[in-house]
Amino acid sequence: MALYSEKVMDHFRNPRNVGVIEDADGIGEVGNAKCGDIMRMYLKIENDIITDVKFETFGCGSAIASSSMATELIKGKPVSEAMKLTNKAVAEALDGLPAYKMHCSVLAEEAIRNALLDYAEKNNLPIDTVGM
Ligand code: FES
Repeated sequence: MALYSEKVMDHFRNPRNVGVIEDADGIGEVGNAKCGDIMRMYLKIENDIITDVKFETFGCGSAIASSSMATELIKGKPVSEAMKLTNKAVAEALDGLPAYKMHCSVLAEEAIRNALLDYAEKNNLPIDTVGM
C-alpha cells in the first residue's frame, strides 16, 4: 500500500488556496517546534460566513496537503462550523495520513482556530459567538 493516499498527493502537488489575503479579517499562525514547520491561515469573513481563505505553509508535504484540504473544508461555511473543524476531519477528507504524520493535520486545525480567534478579538466578539 502506498504511504500516502491519492488525495494527499493531489493536494500536495496542486494545493488549493495558496497565498495571502492582504485585508484578512483573521490571521492565524502556528508552528511545530519539533519539525520546525510553520503554517499561516488568512480568512475573509462576511456576515459570519468564510468567504475566502488562503494559506502559506513552510513545511512537509502532509502539512501542505492538510492546509489545502482544510481551506476547502471551511470555505463558504459559517464561522461556528469552521471553529469545530478537527484535524481528524482533515485527515479523513484526505483519505488518511500515516500515524506519524497526524501532527501535520493538527497544524491546520490550530491555524484555522487561531485565525478565527484573531477575527473574534479584532471585532470584539465574545469567544462563544464563534462557536467554542
Ligand atoms: Fe511537521 Fe509535517 S512533519 S508538519
